[in-house]
Amino acid sequence: MSKTTLALIGAGAIARTHIHRIQHSDDLQLVGIADPAPGAQALADALGVPCFADHRQLLETLKPQGAIVATPNPLHVPVAVDCLERGTAALVEKPVADSVAEAQRLVDVQARTGVPVLVGHHRRHNPINRRAREITQSGRLGQLVSAHVQATFLKPDPYFDAAWRRSHGGGPILINLIHDIDMLRFFMGEIVSVQAMGSNAVRGFEVEDTAAAVLRFANGALGTVILSDTVTSPWCWDFCAGEQAIYPRQDVQSHFIGGTHGSLSLPDLSLWNYRGVRSWHAEMTREQTAVHHTDPYTFQLQHFSEVIQGRAESLCSALDGLRTLQATLAVHEASVRGGMVELAA
Ligand SMILES: NC(=O)c1ccc[n+]([C@@H]2O[C@H](COP(=O)([O-])OP(=O)(O)OC[C@H]3O[C@@H](n4cnc5c(N)ncnc54)[C@H](O)[C@@H]3O)[C@@H](O)[C@H]2O)c1
Repeated sequence: MSKTTLALIGAGAIARTHIHRIQHSDDLQLVGIADPAPGAQALADALGVPCFADHRQLLETLKPQGAIVATPNPLHVPVAVDCLERGTAALVEKPVADSVAEAQRLVDVQARTGVPVLVGHHRRHNPINRRAREITQSGRLGQLVSAHVQATFLKPDPYFDAAWRRSHGGGPILINLIHDIDMLRFFMGEIVSVQAMGSNAVRGFEVEDTAAAVLRFANGALGTVILSDTVTSPWCWDFCAGEQAIYPRQDVQSHFIGGTHGSLSLPDLSLWNYRGVRSWHAEMTREQTAVHHTDPYTFQLQHFSEVIQGRAESLCSALDGLRTLQATLAVHEASVRGGMVELAA
């Protein structure tokens, strides 16, 4: 079987993650790179592929089946639209756009062209989360009632040397929380309204260092999230799921989902329920799914190839990217101005 041909548009930090996975894949072939930065040519030479300063020239010359769009956020939609208009499927890094209106433009172009889009919320491809979604969707937890996410970690002081990370929009809500919001949508369904508070009490920068949010889901369930990049703690997905070697792994849980007939913690996939009488006085049973430790970025690229070949539906569509962005921006807005933000249907 011939390999799926992929191009990389934007050859910065996350691009290295994708390149490494493509190089170790039997099914994927990197055919070119587009990036106007001076260092891109040397990277392309090392990989033995052509380099283009303009992604449109790459698309027209190489006609790749798929392109990974790993540019700065404001370019995600313009570049992805150029891909779709030329028949090249797009794996668009998160966030899908920097505004809901831009994300809607991508949704519309995708619908018109029919060319696939996969948004790079890579955690969806982790087998832990695939299994958690199966469990929540199967009804084994009964009616979904609650969700809690603990996302507290410590960013080192030099991280804030870059001025944009001390200003509005550079904080953990828009950079980190978006992944957890996407996971919650994956398990629980749509978010319809949010309330939130932000605090900068530790660092004193313009940007929040801590935020707490309350979410209402369309199915009536409620969720809470506590987020901070200034807490010394192991309680966040990046530490306990072991997806990336740069974060030392900790044996703790970060996500908790509750239903009328059972509850689930992640990443250990412990399912708690009553076998007999359902009462807080009765013994509980704990079942656990043991999943293989795998790399979600590898699974994401395999899935992208299957989507391109027409063998799978996109697990994170442009509309999913839009809805996750919309809910995350709503948390940010509520944390700044207070009160409740309703999400447009
Ligand atoms: N899914 C994840 O785990 C994850 C992790 C990190 C970053 N990201 C996302 O990936 C994207 C890139 O992040 P990064 O950390 O790699 O940033 P980066 O700044 O390291 O890389 C961006 C690259 O895009 C290039 N670029 C700029 N304009 C371009 C253009 N017109 N055409 C082609 N290339 C252009 C830059 O020269 C740079 O090399 C961001 O949207 C970020 O949110 C996702």
